[in-house]
Amino acid sequence: MKLHEVEVAARERFGNHALLRYRWPGRIPEPGQFVMARASAQSLDPFLPRPLFAHDYEDGVMSLLFEIRGRGTALLAEEDARLLVSNPVGRGFDTDSGGLVALVGGGVWVSPLKLLGKSLGRAGIACDTFLEIPATAPQGYAAWISESYPDATLVPTEGTPDPSRAVLDRLGALERYAALYASGPAEMLDAAKRAAAGTVPVQLALRERMACANGSCYGCAVPVWKSGERAYARACVEGPVFPAEVLAW
Ligand SMILES: Cc1cc2nc3c(=O)[nH]c(=O)nc-3n(C[C@H](O)[C@H](O)[C@H](O)COP(=O)(O)OP(=O)(O)OC[C@H]3O[C@@H](n4cnc5c(N)ncnc54)[C@H](O)[C@@H]3O)c2cc1C
Ligand code: FES
Repeated sequence: MKLHEVEVAARERFGNHALLRYRWPGRIPEPGQFVMARASAQSLDPFLPRPLFAHDYEDGVMSLLFEIRGRGTALLAEEDARLLVSNPVGRGFDTDSGGLVALVGGGVWVSPLKLLGKSLGRAGIACDTFLEIPATAPQGYAAWISESYPDATLVPTEGTPDPSRAVLDRLGALERYAALYASGPAEMLDAAKRAAAGTVPVQLALRERMACANGSCYGCAVPVWKSGERAYARACVEGPVFPAEVLAW
């Protein structure tokens, strides 16, 4: 996958979370698409760029919001690191819902919901947004998120036995929504899929580990239903966003 060197406009850190902004003259991201990113000075360790959701895009500046997990993300967050990124890729959220929709996010995985909320706003689609503030959220993150998602209902889940359920419970009757979009920890995606089954169409942003991100290695295969048969889909090209009912889990 072709990577482009870009000019980093800003880096912010909240504990182990980082927000990176860079000038992007290329293709405008659709909500739910992702880019492959690596620090340009990076040696062969790690060799592969890392997938990160397009968090925001405004006036030619793209942003990524990520948690530092291992070496790849640590290098990306380093002050002064030069950045290599791909075009935005993958199949994102289908925003053709026609009615009030709900956005549900948890942890750092709220990232793609920013662009989604903006896109829905431009299309005149009303949305309710519910974002988990997990107990593990770094200091400053809750304040930043309430600024960044000013219309969202924030749900702190410290001490809650089932955080995903706690966020979903805030939505009330799901029937009033034309669609539900979720991006959160695996437990949240699973809970959203089950809670809305047969009631509301749900789209889930998955984060299968990726290598090539162009459909050739099958490293990101997810089990799906195709014509009533269990099969596999490549999350990098057929996702990372999938309708919940298609997923065979
Ligand atoms: C489509 C897509 C979009 C993503 N968007 C974001 C985003 O917007 N923000 C963000 O913080 N992260 C995002 N991720 C996850 C991110 O790609 C990984 O955290 C990153 O690749 C880790 O690289 P590393 O070298 O820092 O850590 P590694 O050394 O590769 O791994 C460190 C730890 O992180 C865990 N890890 C690695 N990959 C994933 C993954 N895909 N999901 C969960 N845990 C993982 C590993 O199990 C390991 O414990 C996304 C992943 C995908 C597939
Ligand atoms: S990451 Fe290689 S096929 Fe998806």
